[in-house]
Amino acid sequence: MGSYKIDNLEQYFATYRSSVENPESFWETIAEENFVWRKKWDKVLEHNLKEAEVKWFLNAKLNITENCIDRHLETNADKTAILWEPNDTEEKPRHISYKELHEQVSKFANVLREKGIQKGDRVCIYLPMIPELAFAVLACARIGAIHSVVFAGFSSTALATRINDSECKMVITSDGAFRGGKTIDLKKIVDEALKECECVETVLVAERTKSNIELVPNRDFLLQPLLDNASQHCEPEIMDAEDPLFILYTSGSTGKPKGMLHTTAGYMVYAAYTFKNIFQYQENDIYWCTADVGWITGHSYILYGPLANGATTVMFEGVPSYPDFGRFWEIVQKHKITQFYTAPTAIRALAKENLDFVEKYDLSSVKVLGTVGEPINEEAWHWYNDHVGKKKSPIVDTWWQTETGGIMISPIPYVTPTKPTYATLPLPGIQPGLMDENGKEILGNQVEGRLCIKFPWPSMARTIWGNHQRYKETYFTAFPGTYFTGDGALRDEVGYYRITGRVDDVIIVSGHNLGTAPIEDAINEHPAVAESAIVGFPHDVKGNALYGYVILKEIGEGRNRENLKKEINQEIADKIGPIAKLDKIQFVSGLPKTRSGKIMRRILRKIAANETENLGDISTLLNPEVVEGIIKGK
Ligand code: WT7
Repeated sequence: MGSYKIDNLEQYFATYRSSVENPESFWETIAEENFVWRKKWDKVLEHNLKEAEVKWFLNAKLNITENCIDRHLETNADKTAILWEPNDTEEKPRHISYKELHEQVSKFANVLREKGIQKGDRVCIYLPMIPELAFAVLACARIGAIHSVVFAGFSSTALATRINDSECKMVITSDGAFRGGKTIDLKKIVDEALKECECVETVLVAERTKSNIELVPNRDFLLQPLLDNASQHCEPEIMDAEDPLFILYTSGSTGKPKGMLHTTAGYMVYAAYTFKNIFQYQENDIYWCTADVGWITGHSYILYGPLANGATTVMFEGVPSYPDFGRFWEIVQKHKITQFYTAPTAIRALAKENLDFVEKYDLSSVKVLGTVGEPINEEAWHWYNDHVGKKKSPIVDTWWQTETGGIMISPIPYVTPTKPTYATLPLPGIQPGLMDENGKEILGNQVEGRLCIKFPWPSMARTIWGNHQRYKETYFTAFPGTYFTGDGALRDEVGYYRITGRVDDVIIVSGHNLGTAPIEDAINEHPAVAESAIVGFPHDVKGNALYGYVILKEIGEGRNRENLKKEINQEIADKIGPIAKLDKIQFVSGLPKTRSGKIMRRILRKIAANETENLGDISTLLNPEVVEGIIKGK
């Protein structure tokens, strides 16, 4: 095996240059030297970004689990692949070796086949952070089934929408989940969802909480007895490079979630390449990403990226505040974590607590710290740097998206410099650009614009499941010939990028990507609500919190306003999940609209953030008079 590791600054610049001058040979070398192929490609890349069409490693054949598991058996069979840390400190961690992972995944894959799952079928995975989640994902990949992991914090309605959108034949879930001091009855949520889903034939249930569950005959099966009877030999399905690997839903600016589709070879190459470089992973390191596998971060940087590199990856079932606010640091000390990757919202929440929680642990094993999911503010960056990294561990502020499959802009620790609140430089192979409102590229430094990627990269999503037109319109029409990220960014005097936030109707709350439209749709289902508009406003822990402006129908007028607010939030929790609840609700008599009827969120955002002096020109509104009423009613 060769190496795709970048070791010093000079090499970074040289590699970057060659990746731009000759992208195909750049990626070809990486793919050649670092992976197991059943058959090599005929052509590296075919693309037409105007039509949103991209193919990488054409006609190559492979199985990603051979790359993530089988190939490590020769040299590293007994090495820990997944180190599982349970929710409860009393329960013992589990060290799952590559050999055991191979057995578990093979058995699980045989169970899937036995239950009629074939290459190309969709399987929905709705599980807490238990080892079965990793086994289920990899078992799907082993037989070529397309996994669609739905974060186990989503409600039954949100789950049903996602199951139906991709017509999943099977759901893999558990009786329940432990999250801090709480137990959540996941199977009940699945039962509720499945009332709306005709496509599901089989449900597999892992036992975790041993809570009471009902098994529907011929539909629901306990997982463990099936695994016990399954063979531990499972021939991997040979996949084409462009065969789908997974679907992962993300919010959009209309109500329907977007099922981002990732394919096999390009995703694998990019996840592995970025993992190795951004975490500077070395043999014997113990790497921990605190994300949930229900998000893209967990897919790429808990499972596929680390495992493709034969790494030890930690999977944590619990939450940072249980049994107390020192839990993360207790785990870092216990397992001698070398790379620690988390979200700014978690850092801010922990920074509010007593310093003792972090100071009482030995964190000297840490070499690299990472953040992801939203811009990290200066204060949180310094707290992380001072108290966790003790000013000696570089912080990689990694910018990327569900759609990009892997990290795009980030420092490479010990190789390129860091700068607080900056994601800094693109990885070799990635060509960002900033665009102005007229679609022209803004060249030079010390500029700000809309962030686009000008050339394809291997792990870009290939389409939105079932709706290629929407994929094209969302990402490839604003700036034709490039991929538009939806983010704004600035480039400083030396060319470092800083992401300034979304420029569309998506709001990042505690690192979760929430579209305004689905939340508004949920609120509007309340019988007393006529219309609503959601905006984000700054929040010291969550980054952004949600502010809802709600117009009531007449039937709402006589009702207790506080109760109504609770009911509205309950509606949101039921339709989407508790993460989308509103921090503030204001009842208003009208919403500011343009003459074409579009809600002027810009104005609502300013009011929510108490920036009412500078509302800009409101005279062009259809109804400028409502603005004053909204400000007064705050
Ligand atoms: C959006 C993508 C990438 C996995 C987790 C979120 C924001 C992400 C950063 C960062 C500033 C960031 C962007 C992006 N974002 N990382 N380091 N600095 N903003 O994935 O749910 O698809 O959200 O998260 O706005 O577009 P996602």
